[in-house]
Amino acid sequence: MAQDKLAKEIKSFDGLWEGGYYEGDPLEYLSRSAYGNYGYISFLHAIYLRCIKPYINSKTLALEIGPGRGAWTKTMLDAKEVWVLDALSAEYNQFFEYLNHPKNVKYFQVEDFECRQLPENYFNYMFSFGCLCHISFEGITEYATNIFDKLQPNSTCFWMIADRRKYNNFIEHSKEFNIWDALSPKRRKFAPLKYVFDAFSKLARPTYMDLDVFEEGQGHWHDAGLERTCEMLKKIGYKIVEPDIGLIARDPMIHFIKP
Ligand SMILES: C[S@@+](CC[C@H](N)C(=O)[O-])C[C@H]1O[C@@H](n2cnc3c(N)ncnc32)[C@H](O)[C@@H]1O
Repeated sequence: MAQDKLAKEIKSFDGLWEGGYYEGDPLEYLSRSAYGNYGYISFLHAIYLRCIKPYINSKTLALEIGPGRGAWTKTMLDAKEVWVLDALSAEYNQFFEYLNHPKNVKYFQVEDFECRQLPENYFNYMFSFGCLCHISFEGITEYATNIFDKLQPNSTCFWMIADRRKYNNFIEHSKEFNIWDALSPKRRKFAPLKYVFDAFSKLARPTYMDLDVFEEGQGHWHDAGLERTCEMLKKIGYKIVEPDIGLIARDPMIHFIKP
């Protein structure tokens, strides 16, 4: 009886979705889907899901470089410990206020790249977003070198860095990554609405300020370069898992491990 019901269930698809059901193109950054405007998530949340959530548990000893106010640190609070290094003080960043003074977080204001504060063979996870793009290649090389022995074998690491080539490609093809273009109605009957979306799309294109990030100035970017950074990491002894996880349209995020 139950088998009959199951057979009927399968049969019920006869004649449905002729030509093969097509949800959308998973290879497109902002592909349309049957979920419409609910088919998108913030890349910050996607990074949390891909790079942080699977690795944070009561055994994680996490190291974060450049936490700022602590938006990412907050997502790691289920770790056993989180140690963070920042060029600015915790008070200036209002770090502990934002995190509500967690007991398992240690903050160090750094003046160099020596990492003397960090114990040897200690951490099993490292994360950095939005910080290393502001540090020279010499600086990030120092960090990679000096942190190596502070990590346990099999440590997982994620580093977002600056890469001028990816950045320029993003600027050139910014339309492909623009949510207003992705959501702009295609049907003729919505032509007036399309006009509004197109106007927003133009307004949201990268501005002169965005284009200038690599120019010398306070907080400017350093073109570490994806290939050059991966080569540097390999030379030190790290293993690259994925040169760029691909979640950020504009910048690479490297997934690597200390073997
Ligand atoms: C743009 S903020 C990003 C903050 C945070 N990661 C985020 O995404 O919200 C860059 C942070 O890196 C810090 N920073 C700059 N140079 C640094 C260095 N050499 N070592 C550690 N932190 C550094 C800055 O003080 C700042 O807090």
